[in-house]
Amino acid sequence: MDLKILLVEPNESVGDLIAKNLEREFGAKIVYYKSGADAVELIEKGEYFDLFVCRNSSLETVENPIEQIAALVLNALYDNSLKTPLIVIGDFEHTFKKYALISDRLRIEELNRLVLKALNLKKEEFDHLKLPDYIPFPIKYFYLMTLSPCDVFIKLTKKNGDEYVKRLHFGESFTKDDLKKYEDLGLSEFYILKDERELFMNGLLTQSLRNLRAPHSIDEAVVMTGDSFVISSDLIKSLGINSTCVVMVDQTIHQMRTQIAKADKLGLLLKKLLDNQLSYSYKRSYLICLMSYILLPKMEWGGSEQMPALLEKISMVAFFHDIYLDDEKLLKIMDMESLKKAKLNPRERDLVLSHANKAALLALTYPRLPQGVDIIIKQHHGVSNGVGFPEALTAAVSPMAVFFIVVEDFVTCILDQEDLTTFTTILKYLKQRYTLPTYRKIVTEIEAMVSKK
Ligand SMILES: [Fe+2]
Ligand SMILES: [Fe+2]
Repeated sequence: MDLKILLVEPNESVGDLIAKNLEREFGAKIVYYKSGADAVELIEKGEYFDLFVCRNSSLETVENPIEQIAALVLNALYDNSLKTPLIVIGDFEHTFKKYALISDRLRIEELNRLVLKALNLKKEEFDHLKLPDYIPFPIKYFYLMTLSPCDVFIKLTKKNGDEYVKRLHFGESFTKDDLKKYEDLGLSEFYILKDERELFMNGLLTQSLRNLRAPHSIDEAVVMTGDSFVISSDLIKSLGINSTCVVMVDQTIHQMRTQIAKADKLGLLLKKLLDNQLSYSYKRSYLICLMSYILLPKMEWGGSEQMPALLEKISMVAFFHDIYLDDEKLLKIMDMESLKKAKLNPRERDLVLSHANKAALLALTYPRLPQGVDIIIKQHHGVSNGVGFPEALTAAVSPMAVFFIVVEDFVTCILDQEDLTTFTTILKYLKQRYTLPTYRKIVTEIEAMVSKK
């Protein structure tokens, strides 16, 4: 059975919306008019419809000074002795009470309910029309999984609509190399059935955590933590802070800290981090944690019993501070001068200017955030309100922010240089740049650290 519905709605975008909905929900054929007079003309000609849906709005145009659509249509029904049901959207009153009314603040589900009622049909009769809804997820979300937690599809774009093809069955095992093959083909997303979203998120969390915690060589562990760094920050940005990403962020930070604390030779860890396979953002954040691990105890900010808490703060800052910048080009802009030199579009420029403040606000919604972390994030470019870059560095930001600024600058230089045999150029640059005593103290400690080796 094919339903044929006549729709009259003066507002074209609303009309399109309603028409698309009726097509989708009922597989109906929609004849759509913006003017009541045109619709009436068609009715007069005797064309058959199962249902009329009209907006009772008065549309003032040159041809139709004031057109009461519902009254026009209802009169046409009466004159032609038609029994076709009518649904009126909006305010309407008429002595010939053969119509259903729905409020102006149109709710599509309400309309659909009325359509079923008007036609004496049941919702189930249209269930077959409901195509499965597929939700895209980045393929990289699967990096830390080994078993498919649900059926997984890829999308093929065809001339007459998208087609979804199952590539992984529920419970099927796969490796990261298998995933890479898809990515090498230019695919970046897998698709999951809408109803299996929960199943997927649960699998993502439990498998990723289990695999992260399993014993691995330090090289493997650094790569896996890098995946979890990318996945969890991506999850936060797309879904907000929820239980899944909180657990993953905690685990990511925990992994970085234990890897650093357990490494007997930090130099080896450092070399691994210069590996080009890893994301720039992850490498830099990791290096900040690693350097802080060595430098913080020299800062006289408390006894050894306070070091774990200080390190925790710095690693939280390292994780969150640049979370809104995913492009390496943007991540490397650290002062006014490089911002001016960089050719950015307005959106990128905005993002760079506001990223510190935005990240601080996001971190504030994180449960159990150590005290002061949001302040350090906000000030990580040396501006107290977290917007833009300072004309000149000042001592007007928190001491931990000063520490973070210098350490981040230092590790950025290391990443640029990719050579760990000499630090001469880097030290020269740092000394030139940081002349204020609070900043200089950290440069001095960096110098002591590198000359010891
Ligand atoms: Fe940064
Ligand atoms: Fe930043």
